[in-house]
Amino acid sequence: MEILEIRNVKKYYGKNDNLVKALDDVSFKIGKGEFVAIVGQSGSGKSTLLNLIGGLDKPTSGSIIINGKEISGFSPKKQTEFRRKNIGFIFQNYSLMPELCVYDNVALPVSIDRSQKTDHEYIKRILTDLGIWEKRKKLPHQLSGGQQQRTAIARALANKPAIILADEPTGNLDSGTTMDVMELLKNSCKEYSQTMIMVTHNDMLAASCDRILSILDGKIERGY
Ligand SMILES: Nc1ncnc2c1ncn2[C@@H]1O[C@H](COP(=O)(O)OP(=O)(O)O)[C@@H](O)[C@H]1O
Ligand SMILES: [Mg+2]
Repeated sequence: MEILEIRNVKKYYGKNDNLVKALDDVSFKIGKGEFVAIVGQSGSGKSTLLNLIGGLDKPTSGSIIINGKEISGFSPKKQTEFRRKNIGFIFQNYSLMPELCVYDNVALPVSIDRSQKTDHEYIKRILTDLGIWEKRKKLPHQLSGGQQQRTAIARALANKPAIILADEPTGNLDSGTTMDVMELLKNSCKEYSQTMIMVTHNDMLAASCDRILSILDGKIERGY
């Protein structure tokens, strides 16, 4: 069963001489539970693609269908609610709340959704697995880049989303920690039947995924 279908998606920025075809007629499907790597050189459209799938931006044309629903037709309010319930986003720049401690940053997506109760034991488990439980009371600026990145990963996992979108989630980690984090993400995906779409520049990580989609100048160059 597929959880995501991208159909003839275009995303253009600017116009005339400044027109950038960030995505230029992209189509593919991703099955539930798949662990997919997105690869491609800088500026090829990878982050644009994740932002569209996460509903942070709308395509110029084309459809993005998640669980049978066309998300680009949602109102902004519905879009936000849908994202909060279904999507875990690990941003390239982490996007942590500077005034909240590690624990509160991670618990935030859960506590904001009034239909869910904060699962303290689960948050403790992921923070422990990520090696930052003892940092839970620290503010983001008191952490190293790698610790901030792991906080962002914990936050994305906190409400057990159906889809995890990760923009170079291990870009700031040493190779040992990268392997540990990858194992954690894979275990989470297995345990909760989650689908992972992960941008990476690391060929070895990409090769360890179920599938690789390669983007070149806004087009899917090859996919298998
Ligand atoms: N908000 C924006 N306004 C104008 N151009 C943009 C914007 N976001 C991305 N682009 C352009 O779209 C192209 C794809 O960018 P991006 O998706 O960030 O690539 P990648 O993540 O693969 O490095 C680039 O040429 C980039 O400059
Ligand atoms: Mg990018």
